[in-house]
Amino acid sequence: MQARSTFFSRSTDLAAPTEFRRISDGFAFGGDYSPEQWPEEVWLEDIELMRRAGVNSVNLGVFSWGLIEVADGVFDFGWLDRIMDLLHEGGVGVNLATPTAAPPIWLHKAHPEILPVDDHGIRKAQGGRLGWSPSSATFRRYALRMVETLAERYGKHPALRLWHVSNELGNENAQCFSDETGQAWQQWLERKFGTVQALNDAWGTAFWGHHYTAFDQIQPPRYSGTGHNPGLLLDFERFSSDALLEHYRAEREVLRRITPDVPITTNFMVQNHPGVADYRGWAAEVDLVSNDHYTIGTDPERHGELAFCADRVRGMASGDPWLLIEHSTSAVNWQPRNRAKSPGELTRNSLAHIARGAEGALFFQWRQSTAGSEQFHSAVVPHGGADTKVYREAAALGATLKAIAEVAGSRVEKASVAMLFDYDAATALRSGRKPSVDLDSVAVPLALHRALTARGIAVDVLHPSDDLTGYAAVVVPTLFLMTADDAARLAAWVETGGHAIVTYFSGIVNEHNRVHGQYPGVLRDLLGVRVEEFFPLFENEAVTLDNGWTGSLWTELMHLDGANALASYATGELTGVPAVTLNTVGAGTAQYVATHLDARSTGALIDDLIERAALRPVAVADHGLELVRRVSPTQSWLFALNHSSEPLQLEASGIDLVSGTTFTPGPVAAGAVIVLREDTP
Ligand code: GLA
Ligand code: GLA
Repeated sequence: MQARSTFFSRSTDLAAPTEFRRISDGFAFGGDYSPEQWPEEVWLEDIELMRRAGVNSVNLGVFSWGLIEVADGVFDFGWLDRIMDLLHEGGVGVNLATPTAAPPIWLHKAHPEILPVDDHGIRKAQGGRLGWSPSSATFRRYALRMVETLAERYGKHPALRLWHVSNELGNENAQCFSDETGQAWQQWLERKFGTVQALNDAWGTAFWGHHYTAFDQIQPPRYSGTGHNPGLLLDFERFSSDALLEHYRAEREVLRRITPDVPITTNFMVQNHPGVADYRGWAAEVDLVSNDHYTIGTDPERHGELAFCADRVRGMASGDPWLLIEHSTSAVNWQPRNRAKSPGELTRNSLAHIARGAEGALFFQWRQSTAGSEQFHSAVVPHGGADTKVYREAAALGATLKAIAEVAGSRVEKASVAMLFDYDAATALRSGRKPSVDLDSVAVPLALHRALTARGIAVDVLHPSDDLTGYAAVVVPTLFLMTADDAARLAAWVETGGHAIVTYFSGIVNEHNRVHGQYPGVLRDLLGVRVEEFFPLFENEAVTLDNGWTGSLWTELMHLDGANALASYATGELTGVPAVTLNTVGAGTAQYVATHLDARSTGALIDDLIERAALRPVAVADHGLELVRRVSPTQSWLFALNHSSEPLQLEASGIDLVSGTTFTPGPVAAGAVIVLREDTP
C-alpha cells in the first residue's frame, strides 16, 4: 500500500505526542460528493471544478448502499470503481463511507423488523434514512457484510484516506423502543447494576411502587401517559448512546481487520440542541474526531454558537486536531426559514472552525441535488453552476487554505479559562420533570462563552472530570448533574488559588439523577450558601438586582453560609435575598449566580472575573473581534475574525497569510479574517 500522508491517529495514551497521519497535504478541503446522482459526463466537470477550487478531500458513497448492493448479496461496484479512479487521477483523496446510513429498499421489504419503533409502539416506515434500530441483529448482519465487501474492494485503493463510518449515527434513529431493543436494554442494565436490587436502590423505585424483581420486567420508557422515573430515563439515554456506539464499533472492527492502516471516523453532531449521543466517550473510539456543524439562521450571533461548538469538539478531542467534516456553503433546508449566508460568511464560518483546531473544512455537499429531499440545500456547486457567489467564495476559500497551510498540524493555545460542560448532565436535565420547562443545558454555557469570546478571552470546554491544573478560572454553567468526586476536584482546585463561577441549579443530582439533598448539593460547601427553595419565574418575568443587573427564568431562596452577598434581589418576591455571592476558599474564590442573567449582566459578571482572576485576552483588540491563537513548538499564528459590519482594532503584528501582506497594529476590516504569523511567537 502506498504511504499515506495527513491526518492522524489519536494516540490512546493522551500524554504521548499525537502521531499525525495526514489525509491531505495542508488542510483538508472539499465535501460530501454524490456522483451517483449524476450522469458520468458531469463527473468530469466535477473533477475540473474541484481542481479549480483546490478540493483535495471528499466524503464518498455516504448513502449509496442501494446502488452498490442492488439485491441481497448482489454487488455492483462499477460506478464506484470508476469514480474512485477518477478522483485519484484528479488528486482528490477519498473518505469512503460505509453506506449503512441508508439501507436499501429490498432490505426493508425483506426485514421490516429492522426499522425503529417509537415510544407509542409505532414502527417507522421505509423512505427516509437511518431506518434501522441500533439493536437489530438482522440489520447488523447485513450492514457488516456490506462493510466487509466494501473494505475488501477498496482497502488498497490509492485514493482512500479515511473510513467514514455510516453517517450521523442517531440522527434519525437515536432511540428505539422495540422488544428487541428492550432485551438489549435489560442486558445493558444487568451489566451496569449486577443485581436488580442495586438498580431499585439507584433509581429509587420505591416511588409509585415501581419495584422490579427481575431485569426482564424493565421496559424502555414507552408511552405510559405519565412521567417516567428520572433514573430510568437517564439510563435509557445512556443505553441508546451506547447502542449506537456498539454499532460503530462493530463496523470499525471489520474495517480494522481488513485495513489496519486506514484511519476511521464517524461524523459527530455536537451542537446547540439536545444531542443524541455522549460523544465525549465516543472520541476515544475514533482515529480522528470529526464533526458536522450548521449555523442557525435566526441567531444573529450564530458565529458565537459556532465558536462554542468548535471549542466543545476540541475538548472532546483532548486538544488534538479534529476535522470539520460537514458544514454548509449557504442555506440548509431543514430550518423553518432557510437563510442564505451573507457574502463572506462562508469564509468566516470555515476559518472559525479552523482557528479552533479543525484540520480541514468540508461541506455538505459538493453539487446541489436536483432531486430528493435535499434539493434546496446549498452546495459548493449550486443549481446555478460555477458562475455563482457560492462557488466563487468556496474556491477563494480553497486558495486561502493553501495560503495558510503552514498552520496545519499546530494546536490551539491552552486557554486561561476552562468551562465545564457534560452531555450526561445535559441529558439528566431533560430526563424527568423539572421546576421549569425553561431550564436549558446549553443556554447558560453559550451565553458565558459568548461573553468571554467577545472580550478576546480563550476558553477550553472540558468535562467535569478533566484536569483543571493551569487554568486561572473555571466556569460551571448550570451543571445539573455533578458527582461528589468532580465537585471535590473543583473545590481542591479553587483552594490552590483558582477562581470559579457557578450558575444556578448546579450540583443538584448524582449520577443516578437523584437529588443529593440540601441545595446546591455537592457544591454547597464550596459556594458557602444554602438554598432552601427554587423560585422559577414565569415567561416575561424579570427581577432587578441591587447592583443593576437583571435576571429572569430562575431565582432561589438562598441563605449565606460563609459566602458574602455581592448582589441581592431589589424587586420581586425575594427582595433582599442574596442573588450573587462570593466565597473565599483557601487562596481562591467561588462565585455563585442564582438567577439567569441577561447578556449585559453576564458581560459585567465576566468583566469582574477578568479582574479577579487577572485574565488576559488572546491579544489586545476591540470588543467583539474573535481571536484564537494556534501554536507549534516554533511558531504561533493569530486568527482574528471580524463578524461585524465595522472595522475593529487589533494590537498585533506579523505577516497576514490570507492577504500575504504585513500587518501592523490597526483595523481588521468589517467581515474580514486575518491569519497572522506572529513576529514574536
Ligand atoms: C395529584 C396526585 C398526587 C401527586 C400530586 C402532584 O394530586 O394525587 O399523587 O402526583 O398530584 O401535584
Ligand atoms: C447532515 C447530514 C447530511 C445532510 C445535512 C444537511 O449533516 O449528515 O447528509 O443531510 O445534514 O444539512
